[in-house]
Amino acid sequence: MKRKVKFGAVGASAMGLLHIQAIARHPEMELVAVCDKNPARLEIVKEKVDCPNLYTDWHELIKNPEVEAVVLCIPDGLHMEMTEEALKAGKDVLCEKPMALTLEECEKMREAEKKYGHRLMIGQICRYTPAFILTKKLIEQGEIGELYFVESEYAHDYSVARGADDWRVDPRREPYIGGGCHAVDLLRWIAGDPYEITAYSNHKCLTDWPVNDCTISILRFPNDVLGKVFVSIGCKRDYTMRSVFYGTKGTIICDNKSTHISVYKTGLKDEDSLFAGKRDYTIPIKLPVEVDNHNTYGELESFAQCILKDEPVPTTSYDGECTVAVCVAAAESAASNKMVRIQYPVK
Ligand SMILES: NC(=O)c1ccc[n+]([C@@H]2O[C@H](COP(=O)([O-])OP(=O)(O)OC[C@H]3O[C@@H](n4cnc5c(N)ncnc54)[C@H](O)[C@@H]3O)[C@@H](O)[C@H]2O)c1
Repeated sequence: MKRKVKFGAVGASAMGLLHIQAIARHPEMELVAVCDKNPARLEIVKEKVDCPNLYTDWHELIKNPEVEAVVLCIPDGLHMEMTEEALKAGKDVLCEKPMALTLEECEKMREAEKKYGHRLMIGQICRYTPAFILTKKLIEQGEIGELYFVESEYAHDYSVARGADDWRVDPRREPYIGGGCHAVDLLRWIAGDPYEITAYSNHKCLTDWPVNDCTISILRFPNDVLGKVFVSIGCKRDYTMRSVFYGTKGTIICDNKSTHISVYKTGLKDEDSLFAGKRDYTIPIKLPVEVDNHNTYGELESFAQCILKDEPVPTTSYDGECTVAVCVAAAESAASNKMVRIQYPVK
């Protein structure tokens, strides 16, 4: 019989349920325990999956010797404490993004990972979104030439679903860190680590929130690539992460919610299978992609494979902290009205 990774999940609401259901249907994973402090969430878990151990206290889940890997889908401010405790208890950990709200917390998480010798992966889910995976592949193949400008965004309307008691309403949770980390991580993954950032924020949509709700930032990436990240948590439109990658020989427009990516490309040849028959780079070539905005199945699979094969995780804690470092620099730039050189952690 195939060995299965035995999982425990903490947090059983929006992201938690997606992870829990992905674990339950994966042939190489077993759902051993779920914890949510809200018993009503556990009732919903019972309706959706079979799980032998349900807890309202996360310490109980972490103590369970059957659990070998823990998925953390709880508010950002709890990531550090639960990660440290789970690593200490000998579990591998997949922690939701952002890794934490401050660099100090990220550092403590990495220290615990080193000290206890278990895996820590950060759930930067854009790296598992089919549209972004295809975009990265085409850029690496040189299909649009050399990159010169990259842009992404996190544009969401938090006012719709979230009341004032939501954990996101927190002066420590800059939208650029909480949500913007998705756009930053996507650009880092494709264009490398930006070294400079200038950001501006304003506060016009969610005026009763304790943080600015819109930030726009300009970044400088290696190889003289320019970049832009736009973050809004009060925008009046549907949520997407529209992203554009401009190269010297073409352009790719993509997002996390469409059934295709658009590629504009010069120098087309008939033998080029993906782009056969297309001649004019002003006409978009629409390449179909599966829509999977939250590909928790793919993310978990990659985490579980590392455990089964005893390999390091792909989205490391170092990567998670580097993404937070860019976000922290954006907040600092917006607050000070100054350009900030981004300080990355020591590996
Ligand atoms: N990867 C993505 O695309 C994505 C999308 C949304 C949210 N997130 C991240 O996922 C995490 C969870 O977000 P969400 O949208 O699922 O939040 P949510 O508010 O919908 O759910 C959080 C759950 O955690 C439970 N919880 C809170 N404190 C707890 C505790 N001490 N012990 C046990 N359970 C506790 C709550 O009862 C709730 O059910 C956050 O870190 C968030 O930033 C990631």
